[in-house]
Amino acid sequence: VDDPTDDPSGEWVALVRDGDLPLERAVRVDAGDLHVFLYRTEERIFALDDRCTHMGGPLHRGPVKAHVPQPTVTCPVHGSIFWLTDGRVVRGPAGRPQPVFEVRVNDGMVEVRPASHA
Ligand code: FES
Repeated sequence: VDDPTDDPSGEWVALVRDGDLPLERAVRVDAGDLHVFLYRTEERIFALDDRCTHMGGPLHRGPVKAHVPQPTVTCPVHGSIFWLTDGRVVRGPAGRPQPVFEVRVNDGMVEVRPASHA
């Protein structure tokens, strides 16, 4: 199954070459219907839906605080703050958590799939 939307179990989707993902700079990578915010630290890669749950603001344009116990991104439109780990809302106006993705590096590519909250 090549089309991830056909697979309810959630297939991994390759987004970008591992070597092309910058360190400590937020980027947006699109793949089909996915618009993914990616942020790499020395330890790991965070992946969230790039469109703010409030009104769709582009999270990759917002400031990231990475060197704190709970890294956050601030939406550049109205200032909602989300945890990078699980997308929870730290400060509104957003009322819903930001969807997050699981991330892995496979065969030199950064891949994501929707994180299951089951
Ligand atoms: S669109 Fe992100 S806080 Fe409003």
